[in-house]
Amino acid sequence: MTQSQSATPERETTSTGEDSDNVLSVRDITVGFGSKIILQDLDLDVRRGEVLGFVGGSGTGKSVLMRTILGLTPRRTGKISVFGHDLSTATAKERTAIERRWGVLFQQGALFSSLSVKQNIQVPMREHLKLSPQLMDELATLKLELVGLPQDAADKLPSELSGGMIKRASLARALALDPDLVFLDEPTSGLDPIGAAAFDSLIANLSSTLGLTVYMVTHDLDSLHSICDRIAVLGKKRVLAIGTMDDMMKNDDPWIKSYFRGERALRRA
Ligand SMILES: Nc1ncnc2c1ncn2[C@@H]1O[C@H](COP(=O)(O)OP(=O)(O)OP(=O)(O)O)[C@@H](O)[C@H]1O
Ligand SMILES: [Mg+2]
Repeated sequence: MTQSQSATPERETTSTGEDSDNVLSVRDITVGFGSKIILQDLDLDVRRGEVLGFVGGSGTGKSVLMRTILGLTPRRTGKISVFGHDLSTATAKERTAIERRWGVLFQQGALFSSLSVKQNIQVPMREHLKLSPQLMDELATLKLELVGLPQDAADKLPSELSGGMIKRASLARALALDPDLVFLDEPTSGLDPIGAAAFDSLIANLSSTLGLTVYMVTHDLDSLHSICDRIAVLGKKRVLAIGTMDDMMKNDDPWIKSYFRGERALRRA
């Protein structure tokens, strides 16, 4: 959850002089495939230490936006700054340093199927750090513990895990480098409500104890209510609204109204 936002660690001070309360700033981005425009002139700020929930109808571009921020999908216009660095002007070295500080849990293909859980968790370590095999094993053990997986999961292949265990193992990999920012694309989809609630409290704990900033795409109303400091709604190719759950409950946009105050939403109350 949101930490005191007044304290700005020294390493966050940026040469660009940007607002350091925001770990991520997206300005005027447009993304399309062929003649199909998915996102247009989209703006978004993510504040340091917050859990931001990202919602929107299926196919509105939530995953595309996340992949665009990560540099995996090209954008036509606009600017993306992470930790105060403009990604389009960052040098290769700066880019690597930024990537070292974020972790990602993708909606699909969360884990490499031919690697064990331990090897999956160690992928970012191999990519970014020069560590001995023994130290990497120790770190993987710690990450498994952090996400509540038994140690005997370490040598299992993803195909031998339950859906909930795959989500946890993917989170362990996203946390491998002790990131400042994590991107989670529907981390609780497919989990039973108890598993999803446990996953939510894990994320909330990490956020409050480690000061982690969480960017979480979700359809899970329970997650939005219980752990998100703010919610952003994607619609009409842009961020239609951003604010607290209270703000969402007061919003009169038809989609937002039916999402947060529709029959399904009210049934959970
Ligand atoms: N590589 C691609 N090439 C062409 N079209 C794409 C590509 N990736 C995504 N799209 C299209 O962009 C749109 C947005 O897709 P996206 O995966 O971001 O939706 P989403 O909001 O994440 O939906 P969901 O909630 O179902 O995950 C869809 O119409 C999709 O078909
Ligand atoms: Mg998606």
